[in-house]
Amino acid sequence: MCGIVGIVGNTPVAERLVDALKRLEYRGYDSAGVATIHDGAMDRRRAEGKLFNLEKKLSDEPLPGQIGIAHTRWATHGVPNETNAHPHFVDGIAVVHNGIIENFSEIKDDLIAEGACFTTQTDTEVVAQLIAKYRRQGLDNRAAMLAMLNRVTGAFALVVMFKDDPDTIMAARFGPPLAVGFGKGEMFLGSDAIALSPFTNEIAYLEDGDCAIVDHRGAEIVDFSGKPVVRKHQISQATAFMVDKGNHRHFMEKEIYEQPEVISHALAHYVDFATNTVKPVDSAIDFKALRGLAISACGTAYLAGLVGKYWFERYARLPVEIDVASEFRYREMPLSKDQAALFISQSGETADTLASLRYCKDSGLKIGAIVNVSESTIAREADAVFPILAGPEIGVASTKAFTCQLAVMASLAISAGKARGTINAAEEKQLVQSLIEMPRIMSQVLHSIQPQLETLSRDLSKFKDVLYLGRGTSYPLAMEGALKLKEISYIHAEGYAAGELKHGPIALIDENMPVIVIAPHDRFFEKTVSNMQEVAARGGRIIFITDEKGASASKLETMATIVLPNVPELIAPMVFSLPIQLLAYHTAVFMGTDVDQPRNLAKSVTVE
Ligand code: M6R
Repeated sequence: MCGIVGIVGNTPVAERLVDALKRLEYRGYDSAGVATIHDGAMDRRRAEGKLFNLEKKLSDEPLPGQIGIAHTRWATHGVPNETNAHPHFVDGIAVVHNGIIENFSEIKDDLIAEGACFTTQTDTEVVAQLIAKYRRQGLDNRAAMLAMLNRVTGAFALVVMFKDDPDTIMAARFGPPLAVGFGKGEMFLGSDAIALSPFTNEIAYLEDGDCAIVDHRGAEIVDFSGKPVVRKHQISQATAFMVDKGNHRHFMEKEIYEQPEVISHALAHYVDFATNTVKPVDSAIDFKALRGLAISACGTAYLAGLVGKYWFERYARLPVEIDVASEFRYREMPLSKDQAALFISQSGETADTLASLRYCKDSGLKIGAIVNVSESTIAREADAVFPILAGPEIGVASTKAFTCQLAVMASLAISAGKARGTINAAEEKQLVQSLIEMPRIMSQVLHSIQPQLETLSRDLSKFKDVLYLGRGTSYPLAMEGALKLKEISYIHAEGYAAGELKHGPIALIDENMPVIVIAPHDRFFEKTVSNMQEVAARGGRIIFITDEKGASASKLETMATIVLPNVPELIAPMVFSLPIQLLAYHTAVFMGTDVDQPRNLAKSVTVE
């Protein structure tokens, strides 16, 4: 999604703005731009494609100025070209925007009827045009900004600069996140604290309906009617992390290899390593009293939730209703107060997940948030926050956040089982023990399977379609494997429950479509092997991801068999995530795609 930065500085800002945009690159974008004011003139540089195109323009034609705004655009309305790139200029007003102005078309028609001339295809331009109109009607900049905010609807984070006021930037939030950073005699605005981390760690997050008027002295925050509001300053953790690739080629590779370490951190928060027991969880959610759990999330986080459903139902006998957030929010699902709702989100800003959360909150449910960014909107609106402690995940394809979400949910399912009396003390110890052993096992697996997967990826890259199959918790994993492969290698892939094969997908089986079967030697193994027989009988090529017991039990001929150690059933989804992540990663590297920022994708999806 779009990234936003603004600086009211004491030294030239263009380079710092681009530096901040680089820290937002992970969000995904297709064009970028910077605008500054210098000596009474407002100017901009914009470029299609990656930030180095913008940097090249800036080096050919530098932008002086100690105040400026900048943007990375993820196209929604209008193709990703230079004309549609932000900042948009209208009559000495510069605007950058993340989100969607839902009533832009109606506003645009009105403005055109009044004589306005539009130069872009974007929804954003109406923001600048509206402010310009209100100024022509005699309002000052602040009043024109507020009038515009009361006219537009939708989801937006907006930053606006005025040529005739080179000391002030205005910002507003309704939906996508926006942070105000407090420096020494300088002020900053950014889509997140990571963007601002080189400049300051003193942050205040705008809430929905806030408008900030920022100058060298600080920030005045008002609501859209102009009434002052106070937002707490906090010290952001973002500065504690170095956002670089270390020795890795891509952030995704780094994040895959970080998993044993970050999962240890996450587990340390939820389990007691000395006693092999779970630590008490946030009492805002009383698992003992619950009749059911509603889970909602998007993409990979949703697939983590699906694995969680198996665990909550098995270990805590807690019925789980789960849906993708884009459906959940509109399903008008009957909910009762003896249910709790759990929302899973790496970024904590996903628009559909947030809307589902608010639907459940309005229905009076207690809200739990499993998030990576503990300062995020979803975290702030939840009753109980369950941090996954994965550290910044920069690769657009989620890897370490997925396994940390799983580790947290496994711990919560044990806690819920303990609270509800569905697992006894010995079972708790055994389950927690398996979680504690997991980082070591993951480390071994990461180092042992890498060469085989690199070779296999070369073969996989020749195919156009791939099918993933799994049963039990390996079914969501099959979908996650397919999602990972398609999003970074652009190979078409689908994940199916192995038992569904014969209900349709079997028609596709031939030597041109490899079938990746994820099957630890668990309760379902024999049944999955039967499905593999059905594939083999039709000339399908099988890539078999199993464990030592599974490899020796199956006599089927495969294109490749990836053998992992035998592990307890609870931790299999985390351990088996590793080969599917590495397979997708190496295939994408081999195909030469943009692994960390795949085409069309955004890291933080703050629009519907
Ligand atoms: O930040 P969130 O976890 O809420 O994001 C949800 C999805 O957008 C995300 O998992 C997406 O599917 C990833 N690209 C998957 O790799």
